[in-house]
Amino acid sequence: MTGFLKQTIEGFLKEREALGLKRSPRVCRYLDGVWAEVDGRRVRVFCSNDYLSLSRHPAIKEAFIQGIERYGTGSTASRLVTGTHPAHTELEEKIRRFERAEGVILFNSGWHANTSIIPALADRTAELFLDRLVHASLIDGALLSRAPLRRYPHLDMNALETMLKKSRAKKKFIVTDGVFSMDGDTPPLDEMLYLAERYDAVVVVDDAHGVGIMGECGRGVHEYYGVEGRERLIYVGTFGKAFGTYGAFLAGEKGLVDYLVNSARGFIFSTALPPALCHATIRAIEIAESDAERRTRLKQNALLLRTGLKELGFNVLSSHTHVVPLVVGDNRRSCELSEALFQRGFFVQAIRPPTVPEGSARLRITLSSEHSKSDIEELISAMEELKDELNL
Ligand SMILES: Cc1ncc(COP(=O)(O)O)c(C=O)c1O
Repeated sequence: MTGFLKQTIEGFLKEREALGLKRSPRVCRYLDGVWAEVDGRRVRVFCSNDYLSLSRHPAIKEAFIQGIERYGTGSTASRLVTGTHPAHTELEEKIRRFERAEGVILFNSGWHANTSIIPALADRTAELFLDRLVHASLIDGALLSRAPLRRYPHLDMNALETMLKKSRAKKKFIVTDGVFSMDGDTPPLDEMLYLAERYDAVVVVDDAHGVGIMGECGRGVHEYYGVEGRERLIYVGTFGKAFGTYGAFLAGEKGLVDYLVNSARGFIFSTALPPALCHATIRAIEIAESDAERRTRLKQNALLLRTGLKELGFNVLSSHTHVVPLVVGDNRRSCELSEALFQRGFFVQAIRPPTVPEGSARLRITLSSEHSKSDIEELISAMEELKDELNL
């Protein structure tokens, strides 16, 4: 590397280091749904999004292998080039019935979905209203659309209403996470849809962390709030978290799906999901749907952890889900805490700006349905010791 490129890269990395913000992934190999070998150490994982521990489920692995034997490893091109494979259609149909939607379209990942759907729907004449804490992929989707962008304070429906009232745009989109990925709370979708109705807007919900879990049947936050099937609601979910595979989908009206097939650049210009993966994901959805016990165990585990941490005086914000933030504030101290937990056999990541706002560095603790009561109690005991040791 020479010249400006060398300077830019070295300057960036030095600055990150100085601010305690430099990142580098650890080497992690899962041993089962809870334990992993990370950088050579056996640890219990409390940072994965494999909430239902389906990524190693024997029936899903078998379906993946069967899919590869039947369909090969790749999809060979975009669906508009080499065509839709029956496994794509079967997966879309499976989700359509699971989500009770009129239509479904697959995307290659949640990132792909958000950076394709928002620019396809919104142009310069639209106006976008995003919660201040939405996921980076929604922000990037919004920026790609070139529509004016307003950010309202986290979950603040009054502020959102004030913005909607002022807007002169003909096309208004409210964009939100379902379960907020770093905070574990949820937007009041019922109120949001009321505002959407009142101010003629549409709500786009990215429920990457809620689908498969939230609501009685795990359909997601829209089920949790009892607002499924509302005309003004566009629902996006992913497969890489609760379902343990990979990919994403949008569920909505059939006309919207037809529109996206013709306009969503990530659908048009990218190689489609491998059919074998779709085959495995169908099995994953079947299991998530029928095994309600997993969801119940996950919810009980999350409650146990949140209660234990709150009793110790930790700030878990207003999480009421399986994503439990533990706010430390300082970047370096959150890394120290993460490292101290690692030394005690718990793998929990520190999350720092810009992923979370300045001054709110935290541990992001996530639960799995397969954590045992003692896994969680031991984590709470470790936190109790570290509270004194690190003067938290
Ligand atoms: C809220 C949210 N949306 C979208 C994504 C991206 O999904 P994927 O990992 O499938 O690209 C993530 C990833 O963590 C997320 O947290």
